[in-house]
Amino acid sequence: MKPQSWRSNKTRRFCINFFDPALVLLLLTFISPVDSCTKQERHSLLRFLAGLSQDGGLAVSWQNSQNCCTWEGIICGEDGAVTELLLASRGLQGCISSSLSELTSLSRLNLSYNLLSGGLPSELISTSSIVVLDVSFNRLDGELHELNSSSPDRPLQVLNISSNLFTGAFPSTTWEKMSNLFAINASNNSFTGYIPSTFCISSSSFAMLDLSYNQFSGNIPHGIALRNQFSGSIPPGIGNCSALRMLKAGNNNISGPLLDDLFRATSLEYLSFANNGLQGTINGALIIKLRNLVFVDLGWNRISGKIPNSIGQLKRLEELHMSSNNLSGELPASLGECTNLVIINLGTNKFTGELANVNFSNLPNLKALDFSWNNFTGTIPESIYSCSNLTLLRLSANRIHGQLSKNIGNLKSITFLSISYNNFTNITNTLHILKSLRNLTVLFMGSNFKNEAMPQDEAIDGFENIQGLAIERCALYGEIPAALTEMPMLKSDKIADYTDPRLFQFPVYVGCMCFQYRTITAFPKMLNLGNNKLTGAIPMEIGELKALVSLNLSFNNLNGEIPQLVTNLRNLMVLDLSYNHLTGAIPSALVNLHFLSEFNVSYNDLKGPVPIGDQFSTFPSSSFAGNPKLCSPMLVHHCNSAEAAPTSIIFTKQYIDKVVFAIAFGVSFGVGVLYDQIIMYKYFG
Ligand SMILES: *[C@@H]1O[C@H](CO)[C@@H](O)[C@H](O)[C@H]1NC(C)=O
Ligand SMILES: *[C@@H]1O[C@H](CO)[C@@H](O)[C@H](O)[C@H]1NC(C)=O
Ligand SMILES: *[C@@H]1O[C@H](CO)[C@@H](O)[C@H](O)[C@H]1NC(C)=O
Ligand SMILES: *[C@@H]1O[C@H](CO)[C@@H](O)[C@H](O)[C@H]1NC(C)=O
Ligand SMILES: *[C@@H]1O[C@H](CO)[C@@H](O)[C@H](O)[C@H]1NC(C)=O
Ligand SMILES: *[C@@H]1O[C@H](CO)[C@@H](O)[C@H](O)[C@H]1NC(C)=O
Ligand SMILES: *[C@@H]1O[C@H](CO)[C@@H](O)[C@H](O)[C@H]1NC(C)=O
Ligand SMILES: *[C@@H]1O[C@H](CO)[C@@H](O)[C@H](O)[C@H]1NC(C)=O
Ligand SMILES: *[C@@H]1O[C@H](CO)[C@@H](O)[C@H](O)[C@H]1NC(C)=O
Ligand SMILES: *[C@@H]1O[C@H](CO)[C@@H](O)[C@H](O)[C@H]1NC(C)=O
Ligand SMILES: *[C@@H]1O[C@H](CO)[C@@H](O)[C@H](O)[C@H]1NC(C)=O
Ligand SMILES: *[C@@H]1O[C@H](CO)[C@@H](O)[C@H](O)[C@H]1NC(C)=O
Repeated sequence: MKPQSWRSNKTRRFCINFFDPALVLLLLTFISPVDSCTKQERHSLLRFLAGLSQDGGLAVSWQNSQNCCTWEGIICGEDGAVTELLLASRGLQGCISSSLSELTSLSRLNLSYNLLSGGLPSELISTSSIVVLDVSFNRLDGELHELNSSSPDRPLQVLNISSNLFTGAFPSTTWEKMSNLFAINASNNSFTGYIPSTFCISSSSFAMLDLSYNQFSGNIPHGIALRNQFSGSIPPGIGNCSALRMLKAGNNNISGPLLDDLFRATSLEYLSFANNGLQGTINGALIIKLRNLVFVDLGWNRISGKIPNSIGQLKRLEELHMSSNNLSGELPASLGECTNLVIINLGTNKFTGELANVNFSNLPNLKALDFSWNNFTGTIPESIYSCSNLTLLRLSANRIHGQLSKNIGNLKSITFLSISYNNFTNITNTLHILKSLRNLTVLFMGSNFKNEAMPQDEAIDGFENIQGLAIERCALYGEIPAALTEMPMLKSDKIADYTDPRLFQFPVYVGCMCFQYRTITAFPKMLNLGNNKLTGAIPMEIGELKALVSLNLSFNNLNGEIPQLVTNLRNLMVLDLSYNHLTGAIPSALVNLHFLSEFNVSYNDLKGPVPIGDQFSTFPSSSFAGNPKLCSPMLVHHCNSAEAAPTSIIFTKQYIDKVVFAIAFGVSFGVGVLYDQIIMYKYFG
C-alpha cells in the first residue's frame, strides 16, 4: 500500500532522521498529566518539536510550563484544545511532522519564513480542522500528491505554499472536497505540467489563485481534457470560479491562446499571464465579459492582432500591460473610454498609425504611458498634455516627428521622458520647453534633431532635477555648452530630496527581469553626448559633475587635452572619450577613480604613458587603440625611460573589495540600466 504523503520518499527518509524518540520521552517526563491541554496534544506538539533540527529556542520555552496552551506560538480554545500554531520567522529548521494533523482543533497553522525542509505532510491538507495553512518562504520540496478523493469535505480555505521548492504536477482532484476554498498561493516554486483549474468543483467562494514564477507549461485545460480523472462527468474549469477575483500565472512557460473558458470567470479583477508563451489574438467578444477587470498584464508573450474596439467597455480598467508582444494595427479610439486608466504599457509591439487616435484628455488619471518600440507616426497628440499626473512618458523608437509643443510644460509631474529614436526637430525649442519641468529626472532624446546646432547656454539652464541626460546620435554641431555642466543634480551627491516610491509606476528597464529601477533615487547619474559633431575642448567645468556615474563623449570632433579635473569625478564607472581628436597625456590621477570599470580613449591622438596600476591594468588594450603615441607595457609601443609611467599604487584588501564591487555593479549597470540606451546600441550600434 502506498502511503499518502505530499513529500517524496527521499525527503521522508531525511526527515525521519530528526525524529528522536529518546528526546520526546525526555521532554514528556517534564510534563504533568493534568492540565487544560491534553496529553495527546502535548505529545503531538513535542513530536513536531523533535522533528526540528533547529528550534529557535522553542524547546526551552516549551519546557517552562506543563500547560501547552501557555507555550510560545500556541493558542488554545476555551476547551483547552490547540487551535492555532503560529511560528512564523522563528529560524526553524528540519521537517514538519505529520503529528500536527493529530491536533483535532487546529484551525490555523503558520510556519512561514523559516528554513523548514522536506515535504509537506499530506495529512495537514486533509485534516478536518485546518482552515488556514501558511508554510510560505521555506525550503519545502518534493511533490504534492493528490489526496484521497473519497474522504469527507475539508474546511481548508487558505493555502500558502509560495516561495518553496515544490516540484511536479499540481494536484487537481484534491480540491474536489474543499467547499470553502478561498485562496491558494503556490507562486515561486517549480511546479510543472498543466495549470490546475479544478478549484471550483465544490467551492463557490474561491477568489484568489497565484501560480506565478513556476514552470507550468500547459494552458488551462478545458474541462473535457480532464474527463478521465473525473469518472465520466465533465468537470468545471476555471470558468466556473464565479467568485475568482485574482488570477496570477505570470512567469511560467504557458503557450497557446487564452482559452475561452477563462472568460466565464466574470468576477476577475486582476489577470496576469505575463512572460509566458501565449499566442493568438485577443478576442474582442470575449474580453468584455471580464468587465470587472482592473489590472491586466499579458506582457512578454507572443500575442498578435489588434487591440479590439470593445476594450472601451472595460470601464474599471486601471492598468493595461501588453508590452513585448506582436500586436499590430492602430490603437482603437475606444481606449480613451477606459477612463480609469492609470498605466498603459504597449511598448515593443508592431503598432502603427497615430497616437492621436486616442483622446487622452478623457484619461485624467494617467501616470505612465509607454508606446516605445513600435511604428507610431504623426506628432505627439496635444491631448496627452492634459494628463497632468503623468510621470512617465516613453515614446522612443517610433516614427513620431515635429516640434515639441509648449503645452508639454503642463506635465508638471513628468519624471521620465524618452523621445529617443524618432524624428523630432528643433532641439533648442525642446530644451527650452523642458528645462522648467522641475520633476524631470531622466531625459532621453537621442537620434532626433539631425544636423541641428547644439543650443546655447540660455536654452539649457534649469533642469533642476536632471540625473540622466542622453542627446546622443543627433549629429549636433557646436561646442559643449557650459550650462550642461551646471545641472544641480549632476553636480552634487545629494539624491533628490524626495523618495517617492510611486515615481516609476512600472519598471522602466523591463528589458532585464533581474535588475530594475523602480525609484528615481536608484538611477545612476549619466550624461551621453556621444555620436554628434561637437567641436572644441571638453570644458574644464566637467569636473564639477561630481555625481556622474557615466560620461560618454565618444564619436565627436572634440580636441584639446583631457581636463585634469575629470579626475574629480570620483563616482565614475563609465568614461568613454573614444573617437575624438584629443591630444596630450591621459591624466595619471585617473587611477584614483576607484569605481571606473569601463574606460575608452581609443582613436584619439593621445601620447605618453598609459597610467599603471589599479583597475587600469584591467582595461583591455582596445581601450587605448588608435593612439600611436601612447605607450605602455601592454601596448605595441613600450615606454622608454623618458616616458616612464608613474609608479603604481599598492593594492590593499579594502581597495580590492571596492574594485570587485565596482565590477559587479558595472555588470549590472551595463545589463539593467538605460534600457533605451542599451537596446539602441543593439539595434543601431
Ligand atoms: C503568517 O505569518 C506571517 C508573519 O507574521 C504573516 O505575514 C502572514 O500573513 C501569516 N499568514 C497568514 C495566512 O495569516
Ligand atoms: C480513501 O479514504 C477512504 C475513506 O477514508 C478509505 O476507505 C480508502 O482506503 C482510502 N483510499 C486510499 C487509496 O487511501
Ligand atoms: C500567504 O497567503 C495568504 C493568502 O493570500 C496571506 O493571507 C498570507 O499573508 C500569506 N503569507 C505570507 C507570509 O505572506
Ligand atoms: C504569493 O506569495 C508571494 C511570495 O511568495 C507574494 O510575492 C505574492 O504577492 C503572493 N500573491 C498574492 C496574490 O498575494
Ligand atoms: C522566491 O523564493 C525564494 C526562496 O524562498 C526567495 O528568496 C525569493 O524572495 C522568492 N521570490 C519572491 C518574488 O517572492
Ligand atoms: C460550470 O459551468 C457550467 C457552464 O456555465 C455549468 O453548466 C455548470 O453547472 C457549472 N458547474 C458547477 C459545478 O458549477
Ligand atoms: C517551454 O515550452 C516549450 C514548448 O512550448 C519548450 O520547447 C521549452 O523547452 C519550454 N521551456 C522551458 C524552460 O521549460
Ligand atoms: C516599422 O516599419 C518598418 C517599415 O515599414 C519595418 O521595417 C519595421 O520592421 C517596423 N518596425 C516595427 C517595430 O514594427
Ligand atoms: C492627480 O494625483 C493627485 C494625487 O494623487 C490626485 O489627488 C488628483 O486627483 C490627480 N488628478 C487627476 C486629474 O487625476
Ligand atoms: C514633484 O515630485 C514630488 C515628489 O514626488 C511631488 O511631491 C510633487 O508634487 C511633484 N511636483 C509636481 C508638480 O507634480
Ligand atoms: C524625418 O524627417 C525628415 C524631414 O522632415 C524626413 O526627410 C525624413 O524622411 C524623416 N525620417 C523618418 C525616419 O521619418
Ligand atoms: C525653434 O524653436 C524656436 C523657439 O521656439 C523658434 O524661435 C525657432 O523659430 C524654431 N526653429 C525652427 C527651425 O522652427
